[in-house]
Formats: sequence, structure tokens, C-alpha cells
Amino acid sequence: MSPSLDCLPMEGPTLQTPRLVLRRWSDEDRGPLAAITADPEVMKYRFARLSRAETDQMIDQNEESFETNRFGLWAMDRNEDHRLLGFAGFGTSDFGAAFCPAVDVGWTLARDTWGRGYATEAASAALDYAFDELGLDEVVAHTTSVNERSRAVMRRLGMTHDPADDFDAPWYVGGHPYRRFVLYRLRASAWGPPHHTGHLWSGGMEIECAECGCLVDKGVRIKPCGRPDCCCRHLPVADEDR
Ligand SMILES: CC(C)(COP(=O)(O)OP(=O)(O)OC[C@H]1O[C@@H](n2cnc3c(N)ncnc32)[C@H](O)[C@@H]1OP(=O)(O)O)[C@@H](O)C(=O)NCCC(=O)NCCS
Repeated sequence: MSPSLDCLPMEGPTLQTPRLVLRRWSDEDRGPLAAITADPEVMKYRFARLSRAETDQMIDQNEESFETNRFGLWAMDRNEDHRLLGFAGFGTSDFGAAFCPAVDVGWTLARDTWGRGYATEAASAALDYAFDELGLDEVVAHTTSVNERSRAVMRRLGMTHDPADDFDAPWYVGGHPYRRFVLYRLRASAWGPPHHTGHLWSGGMEIECAECGCLVDKGVRIKPCGRPDCCCRHLPVADEDR
């Protein structure tokens, strides 16, 4: 039986985006996450669907990772209805491929929530955190070469693909159709200033955009810069009486 998380001091990092919260796991997530990781369509390109016990283990391992590394896969909640949509965040790749060891970014959403930009929005916030808070130089992403939806997220994030980095996943036996993996890379220098999708976390504070000067708090412009080319223009503006 899985240990209860409710006795652990689960704090941040918590990342906020306009539509999502990326937060640490709680025991209430175990059932909803197990429904996602048991869905054959969601898990099509993963090694296998996960049982309830394996899903519990995944939550526990990520909680340990947050305690040890200050990163892991976050639970992804939607603001409007507090529904657990899936997860996004970081793992450690260390299985002998040429690019290892590395920190990798990943994402998984419940099937009925694909096609709305949630994975890219969540990963943008996670990458802000990786580069601005953790000070990482590079983050990679990898998936089986035929997982086009996941590759599209990598491209939307500006990650680059050099076929020379591709590799055979050691967890698949030779000849398996998903064995060939693609590797995408993103260097901190290519990411630039915070992307404002969610670089404020627990106990958030106001920050001034380094590029245009907007004052931003929790993904909302509380004092817009007023420039027509404002790089934060996709963020909502706070109510006057805030
Ligand atoms: C991989 C996965 C997370 C991608 O999900 P996704 O919904 O396709 O990706 P995004 O959340 O970035 O959404 C992008 C899509 O939303 C659309 N979209 C709609 N509203 C949007 C908005 N407000 N903002 C941005 N995009 C929006 C985009 O146009 C794009 O549509 P398209 O796919 O028709 O081009 C999802 O397919 C999944 O969970 N797969 C199973 C698990 C998996 O394989 N994980 C990766 C393992 S490496």
C-alpha cells in the first residue's frame, strides 16, 4: 500500500499560468491520475499502460524528486473547474544514451483535453522555472519518432531536433515499431526572458518584465507597459479596482 502523502510537507514549487496550476501531488490525485494512465489512447506511445499501483508509485517518485531535486512532474489542474488534466514537468534521463545524463521535459493530458494548448502552456511555465529558478543550461525532450503530437509540442516550444542525436530506446526490444526515439534540445540561451505563461509560483510576487516593463502578477498584467509591441500582450489585464 502506498504511503499517504498527506503527512508530508508538500509545498512548492507551484507554477501558475493563465489557465492552469502546476502543483505538487496529493492523495486525492491517485484515482483521477490512474484513470488517465489506464487509457490506451493516452498511453499508446508509452511502454505500457499503468496499473493503479504503478500510478501510485509514479506519484510517490515524483514527490521524492521534488524534495531532492526541486523538480519533477507536476500535477496539472485547470483553473476554471479544478480538474486534474494530467501532468507536465521534468524527469532525469540517465540510461546510457549519448546525451545522458540530462533533465527531460514531458507532458501527458487526459484524452478529452487534447487540442487546447494546455501541454504547451504548462511546459512553457516549467521551462521558465527550469532556466530562471533552477539555472539549468539545457533541457531535452524525447519520444518515439511516430508520436507526432508530442513532437509538435516540442517544436512549439522552440526545441530543436538534430537527427544525429536520435537513439534506440533500451526499454524496447529490437524491431519494436516504437524503438527509434527522437531527441529535441533547448538551451537556456535560446529560451530568453520569462515567457510569462507562468513564472510566478507559491507566494508569488509581482515582477517587472525585463523586455517591455509590464508589471505582472500570477500571469496577469497589473500595470501594462502600453507599448503596441508589448511582449506580454497575450496576458489578461487586471481589473481596475484590483
Ligand atoms: C502529447 C500531448 C500532451 C499533446 O497534447 P496537445 O493537446 O496536442 O498539445 P497542446 O496542449 O500543446 O495543444 C496544441 C493544440 O491545441 C490547439 N489550441 C487550441 N486552443 C489553444 C490555445 N488557447 N493555445 C494554444 N493552442 C491551442 C493548437 O492549435 C494545437 O492544435 P493542433 O494539434 O490541431 O495543431 C497529448 O497528445 C498526450 O497527452 N498524448 C499522450 C501522452 C504522450 O504521448 N505524452 C508524451 C510522451 S513523450
